[in-house]
Amino acid sequence: MHVLAVASQKGGPGKTTLAAHLAVQAEMSGAGPVALVDTDPQASLSEWWNVREAEAPVFVRTTVDRLPEDIRRMMAFGIKLLVIDTPPAITQTIENVICVSDLVVIPARPSPHDLRAASATVDIVERVGRPMVFVINGASQRARITSEAVFALSQHGTLAPAIVNQRTDFAASMIDGRTVMEIDGTSKAAEEVSLLWDYLRGRLAKLPSHGQDGSGERRQEIA
Ligand SMILES: Nc1ncnc2c1ncn2[C@@H]1O[C@H](COP(=O)(O)OP(=O)(O)OP(=O)(O)O)[C@@H](O)[C@H]1O
Ligand SMILES: [Mg+2]
Repeated sequence: MHVLAVASQKGGPGKTTLAAHLAVQAEMSGAGPVALVDTDPQASLSEWWNVREAEAPVFVRTTVDRLPEDIRRMMAFGIKLLVIDTPPAITQTIENVICVSDLVVIPARPSPHDLRAASATVDIVERVGRPMVFVINGASQRARITSEAVFALSQHGTLAPAIVNQRTDFAASMIDGRTVMEIDGTSKAAEEVSLLWDYLRGRLAKLPSHGQDGSGERRQEIA
């Protein structure tokens, strides 16, 4: 099993949108069973899942304190990928989740404000010592600010080559618990999610399974 956290100190760059879409895409591409965990008191991901008709990915109700133990349970249950959504600003929760994660996805919108805020999340990830990847979300195609964001983020760490553009499909699809792939699998939005997941799947494949790099114990102590 791998644990993928979607985290950013800043509010609104698309953590919940990406967590839901990546989990569903992973399940559709055969990388499941996939589980989702929501550690944000705003509970947007839980609300999305509650109105969802499809049963996969499964949703696991837990708390940050119980997370290490529940992760062991999920592994024993045969879950192959766990995607964790995190709250903005609650540094302690973000840090605790990153501690138990194998890869941290940091979404950022291509705006100066988001780019500055990204470094606060990088500080946490570096303190804990987990692998991370930036994802540009909500981009406008061909806008100069997008290429500036690519440059700025790549100074701080690895940037996913797949960019997710600003498309109303993303917000619209989630109203009734679905994703862009489930509304129209041939849409541009669906293609962007698929490319992003393919990239992340490749990254995860090169990382040790959860708890197999010898740092699982240490991470749980920190957590
Ligand atoms: N690529 C996109 N195109 C269009 N709208 C988007 C996109 N990504 C996210 N949104 C919209 O932007 C808003 C914020 O997204 P989301 O809730 O996923 O961010 P978040 O990082 O989880 O926010 P918070 O920090 O409050 O938890 C939502 O209304 C969502 O529908
Ligand atoms: Mg959110």
